[in-house]
Amino acid sequence: MKNGSAWWIKIPLAFFLILGLMELLIDSGDKPAIIEYPLLQIFMVFILFLMIIIQIILNAIENVMFQTLSEEAKARYLEDKSNTWEWKWGKRTYEKLLGSKPMEAEQEIILDHNYDGIRELNNKLPPWWVYMFYASIVFAIIYMLRFHVFGGYDQDLEYEQDVAAAQLEIEAYKKTAKDLVDANTVELMTDASDLKAGKTIFESNCVACHMADGGGGIGPNLTDEHWILGGGIKNVFHTISEGGRDGKGMIAWKQTLKPLEIAQVSSYVLTNINGTPPANPKAPEGDIWVAEETP
Ligand code: HEC
Repeated sequence: MKNGSAWWIKIPLAFFLILGLMELLIDSGDKPAIIEYPLLQIFMVFILFLMIIIQIILNAIENVMFQTLSEEAKARYLEDKSNTWEWKWGKRTYEKLLGSKPMEAEQEIILDHNYDGIRELNNKLPPWWVYMFYASIVFAIIYMLRFHVFGGYDQDLEYEQDVAAAQLEIEAYKKTAKDLVDANTVELMTDASDLKAGKTIFESNCVACHMADGGGGIGPNLTDEHWILGGGIKNVFHTISEGGRDGKGMIAWKQTLKPLEIAQVSSYVLTNINGTPPANPKAPEGDIWVAEETP
């Protein structure tokens, strides 16, 4: 009946082994898996609890079986157990870090004053505390040299780097999420593929009223600089998405077209239709559109 090595070595060892394996096997980009997937944190807490519970049960079993031993066997068992290296080493380290004198040795550190029978011991500061204090001094020196003497980055720089990185992420995201545009965020698209898609949409939906060259018919002329409902990508997007004035015949295309498609056809109208000479231009309607100065 031997209960393996000490629990205070076994449990942390198993815990970090599982953690390490997880980091190794789970692909989580440049962030540690445990941060990328919060579920893993719950999993690790669960594992830890499980190991502690198993250990408690094992200890209980050991205890019960211990009680069944004869006095002599009990003594031998305890002797055996306290002789394994990890218990010896653990006990020694613990005592060393605590640094307290055993009762029998108190004679050595007793101070020689005596207040009505109350004596004082001259205990040393516990080594675990002293070592931490030294470590903090070393840390402070390295920190000072790193950030104040040799001029590492400061908060402002760190902030700017973070913002720049976030901006890049937003740009990248926008590229993958073109479908999220609306009249406020839409930008004129310049990619040939987008304009080509816009052309297809225009030819299959809009030519009946605006003509293939945009010269106009039931709908107004899209080639001139006059706009009834406002020019520029944002207004045009809005008109196509929400439709024209009631009863004029221009429906709200958001019912049929996706935001991305509206952005594409708007860009096509502004880039490839507007400004080109049509075969049969309809008379201009609306006002000349002047883009607002962006301050
Ligand atoms: C049924 C006919 C019809 C169809 C189809 C149609 N439109 Fe129109 N469109 C109109 C009319 C009519 C107007 C004028 C609305 C108004 O005066 O309020 C208009 C206005 C517009 C305007 C605003 C012009 C300005 O001067 O402000 C744009 C841009 C436009 N249409 C684009 C499109 C696009 C792109 C499509 C295809 C997806 C399309 N239209 C399909 C009839 C149509």
